[in-house]
Amino acid sequence: MSGAHENTVSELKIRPLHPALGAEVTGVDLARPLSPEIFEAIHQAWMQHLVLIFPRQAISDAQQIDFARQFGDLEVHHQDIIRSKSAPEIFSVSNVDDDGKLMDPGHKSVAQISLAQRWHTDSSFRPVPSMGSILHGLEVTAEGGQTWFTNMYNAFDALSEDQRQKIDGRKARHDFGHMATLAPIKPLSASEREAMPPVWQPMVRRHPVTGRKSLFISPIYNNAVEGMADNDAIALIAELAEFAGSDAFVYRHIWSADDIVMWDNRCTMHQVTPYDLGVRRVMHRATVMGDGPVIAG
Ligand code: OGA
Ligand code: MN
Repeated sequence: MSGAHENTVSELKIRPLHPALGAEVTGVDLARPLSPEIFEAIHQAWMQHLVLIFPRQAISDAQQIDFARQFGDLEVHHQDIIRSKSAPEIFSVSNVDDDGKLMDPGHKSVAQISLAQRWHTDSSFRPVPSMGSILHGLEVTAEGGQTWFTNMYNAFDALSEDQRQKIDGRKARHDFGHMATLAPIKPLSASEREAMPPVWQPMVRRHPVTGRKSLFISPIYNNAVEGMADNDAIALIAELAEFAGSDAFVYRHIWSADDIVMWDNRCTMHQVTPYDLGVRRVMHRATVMGDGPVIAG
């Protein structure tokens, strides 16, 4: 972005990247405040494309936080291994510690962020799950470490009659502690468990802005479905996740340094592809709180 001039709507360009979801947004400098018109145009593009990519935005954590706050209040992560020391609203999605040192692949936070290699939607374990996440790629990997996004409206619309019947009117349990059973990491401490008791959420949700219905699962946290034996529930969640990950619904983002990627957690899932944990990957996330309980669809 060139120096002194203000953001203007006429320079904003939105370029769709995939038929299902994802669009690139250029002609705006996220380091600068957004006028109500630009904010509105970006919000509208977000609702339409679900995932927005803003290339070449070398912004500070404080500027990222200011940008994110325009969409709502921000979450502060309940675990100190994820929360950044310098800015509590920044989640450190990184294999590098606060002092800039590469962490051991066995480090608890590295093992935990590696679980993002499975489909999920952020903070679905909270009573009010997140609205959206805004991720800044500070140091990105040349190989692997792509982030894939899937359109859960489309996945819902394409479910078979049989799948629909299984989820209609049903709730799934979202349990932060379930994650610890999926990776070679220690079970959560009592205080970590108490901070996030499991919640039950409808498997079909209605988006508060678009009014559209989507499939709502988050496989790294789901460990039960109402009225089903646990084994059947896990199998159903796995089947739905695999279906939702079908090519037709997925945009695959290949990172360049200083991309800002913003996704709507209410109608998408995401996962990162494997990468060499011996190579630095530093991502800072600001997470916008949901503005109300999940609306059953
Ligand atoms: C996240 C996440 C994936 C990635 O920040 O919520 O899942 O590519 N990140 O780092
Ligand atoms: Mn995530």
